[in-house]
Amino acid sequence: MAEPLPIIKVEHPVLRQVARPVRNVNRRLRELLDRMAATMYAADGVGLAAPQVGVSLRAIVVDVGDGLVALANPEILEASEEREVGLEGCLSIPGVLAEVERPARVRVTGLDRNGRRVWLDASELLARALQHEIDHLDGVLITDKALRVWDRPPETTLRVVFMGTPAFAVPSLRALVDAGCRPVAVVTRPDRPRGRGLAPAPTPVRQDAERLGLPVLTPETTRDPAFLEELRRLAPDLVLCVAYGRILPPALLTLPRLGCVNVHPSLLPKYRGEAPIQRALWDGAEETGVTVLYMTEEVDAGDIILQRRLPIAPDDDYGRLHDRLAAAAADLLPAALRLLAIGRVRPRPPDPAAAPPAPAVTRQDEFIDWRRPARAIVNQVRALSPRPGAETAVAGRRLKVLKAEALPREEPAEPGGVLSAGGADGLVVAAGEGAVRLLVVKPAGGRAMSADDYLNGHPLALGVAFG
Ligand code: CO
Repeated sequence: MAEPLPIIKVEHPVLRQVARPVRNVNRRLRELLDRMAATMYAADGVGLAAPQVGVSLRAIVVDVGDGLVALANPEILEASEEREVGLEGCLSIPGVLAEVERPARVRVTGLDRNGRRVWLDASELLARALQHEIDHLDGVLITDKALRVWDRPPETTLRVVFMGTPAFAVPSLRALVDAGCRPVAVVTRPDRPRGRGLAPAPTPVRQDAERLGLPVLTPETTRDPAFLEELRRLAPDLVLCVAYGRILPPALLTLPRLGCVNVHPSLLPKYRGEAPIQRALWDGAEETGVTVLYMTEEVDAGDIILQRRLPIAPDDDYGRLHDRLAAAAADLLPAALRLLAIGRVRPRPPDPAAAPPAPAVTRQDEFIDWRRPARAIVNQVRALSPRPGAETAVAGRRLKVLKAEALPREEPAEPGGVLSAGGADGLVVAAGEGAVRLLVVKPAGGRAMSADDYLNGHPLALGVAFG
């Protein structure tokens, strides 16, 4: 890896010169491009132009996350009529963010590091970064063309009240604090006994908020006049809800200047409701995501601010997908807050097309019906693992299935019948269509174990029936 170079700051005249064209793409230029790339990566930037390291030459490097682009003599051949406003920083102007309007798409040409001519059709962040770096070659800085300039990230100017309860909301709360956006208060559900005979325990959000030194409010109901008065006194710009667990009353929805915003772990309008993660797995969906949306009196039906997609892996279960979605939500939040802070949200009503709902998981949903297809049973197991676990019974004993896989089946068999009870095939049970190999199970009152370990303690005969 090449050595990074010092970055020239805004006052230096080299940043104001029109840079000279590259005459020869030779070893020296390649060395310069390598050191520019090293400098950009070390400074955590997405682009750098040669004048920024004190070299008045037409050379740029850009990497917006899908690979390094290094160009000599870059030129914009075409720019779209459509323009977009976005927020840009510049490694030569530390701490400053500028709102800059630019063509949304550009066609750029230049010479690659071997001197070959290349063409690039760029959109979104890549288009913006290329234009920003090419501006540097003409002595132009973002502050010259800014619609507005911020000397600190605009989201950090917001007074945010954070409302959340379970572990799902904890990464989001931390992301806010890490982004310099300390909530003025954290609202969470009151402490509740966890399990029989145990003392009331604070919610995961309360525990984390206290660790972070944030003021915590725990109203019994959000309609409580004293609570609403307290919120009014805090004068929040924004109320941000991440899995709070209660519908907000109109008096609260209209209180903050920028409204109330919710984070929902699905691609709304798909999986509206209480159990979006479980229901996506239950249906065998191959993708889900997180949505940041405005809250209205109707649940999960407000206009959409931002969405991010997330593929579901075949071996994802509820526990794993929950954690990945919680991380994705935390990742998306600062960008959403930034849009809100600069007043550039383009709210999008949810697509009115029919979408699968996400009703809560009931006790009835926990029982395995072996007459269903193997694929559906495996999806049920994924949706309920590790908690509460899909339940069945065999030889008079209750058993939870935590991990399973679907298999084809040729020979006729009664659904629920044991087709294999050990050996290389493991524990295989006939389903209405196909068969299910049980991989991890948990006997009532016992611990989770492999199916092999279970069979060692509880041998089963072929033909014994589950269900
Ligand atoms: Co710059």
